[in-house]
Amino acid sequence: MIPVSKPIIPKNAERNLLECLKTGWVSSVGPFINLFEESFAKYLGISFAITSTSGTASLHLALAALNIGKGDEVIVPTFTMIAPVFAVLYVGAKPVLVDSDLDTWNMDTSLIEKKITKKTKAILVVHIYGHPADLKPILALAKKYGLFIIEDAAESLGSEYQGKKVGTFGDVACFSFYANKTITTGEGGMVVTNNKKLAKRLRLLKDMAHSPKKRFLHTEVAFTYRMTNMQAALGLAQMEIIDKIIEKKRSIAKFYHLRFSKLPSLTLPPEKAWAKNVYWMYGILVKDRDKIRSKLKKQGIDTRDFFIPMHQQVVLAKLNLIQNKHYPVADYLSKHGLYLPSGPNLIIEEQKKVCQALEEVI
Ligand SMILES: Cc1ncc(COP(=O)(O)O)c(C=O)c1O
Repeated sequence: MIPVSKPIIPKNAERNLLECLKTGWVSSVGPFINLFEESFAKYLGISFAITSTSGTASLHLALAALNIGKGDEVIVPTFTMIAPVFAVLYVGAKPVLVDSDLDTWNMDTSLIEKKITKKTKAILVVHIYGHPADLKPILALAKKYGLFIIEDAAESLGSEYQGKKVGTFGDVACFSFYANKTITTGEGGMVVTNNKKLAKRLRLLKDMAHSPKKRFLHTEVAFTYRMTNMQAALGLAQMEIIDKIIEKKRSIAKFYHLRFSKLPSLTLPPEKAWAKNVYWMYGILVKDRDKIRSKLKKQGIDTRDFFIPMHQQVVLAKLNLIQNKHYPVADYLSKHGLYLPSGPNLIIEEQKKVCQALEEVI
């Protein structure tokens, strides 16, 4: 089976991991944590990068550090993987859903303002499938209403908005290092910010909030969201090849584009003039998605459905959190979208096989 994604594990990862094992620095203290955080911050061009256990934990930390909680509302796209919505629920706040834009598959910025109320504290922007959201109008709204911007860049490490990397626009941004992400640490995440005070608070909360005056004295509820030195060792080795990984992802997308632009019934993934898409996953929209997926599977090609939007989620209905069901663009994306094998380890013969199979099936 040609998998949807398989990571590249560089040689230096082995060397780094062996060093952890030999030195005994296997837990969350050790030299690779700082090195990985520094390398990540430098890559993004941001002041502070703080490792964590996952993308979801990073989002939870970010919301908690901004003191968002009960009685607050956070605006999120309905078309997303559920982690950002779960994070909003973890802190006791209410997710307020916004439909998508068919042009970018991201949150439709023209629909945000009418969702803002006195209770709104933040806009949680999810950069979906490697393509940035249109940040300019979102930043303008945040300024007008005094809202925080939290970027969920889990799927978009390396993507750019108007020539600048996503994750550097908001008050805080979160990344995931699950195995299918741009870089991986097995499991893991990162929170980044340019705000020194916020960075300090993120560090405090991720490690039990020991009182700075006395260890083991705690004045608030906090978490153990510490990445291990071993994960950071893998992350650091991946940072050394991140440009190569992104180049490969973009060349995979280019190859698919060239082959599929001859198939008018397919909608190909967007790349707006103001964006650099890292094509986290190469998503397409097709008419008979389920039929196409099962035919590809029979030919040994793995694919995935697009996300099920939040307004269709049973868990949110149970919590009485679905304001209405009219999110037509998200419904459309969810019904017609699938993504093809897109991992950086995909070889050209595999990609040709995927193209030929899809052309035949279509
Ligand atoms: C948009 C988005 N946010 C957050 C996450 C959560 O990341 P993790 O699986 O590391 O918790 C994911 C994971 O795929 C994601 O796609």
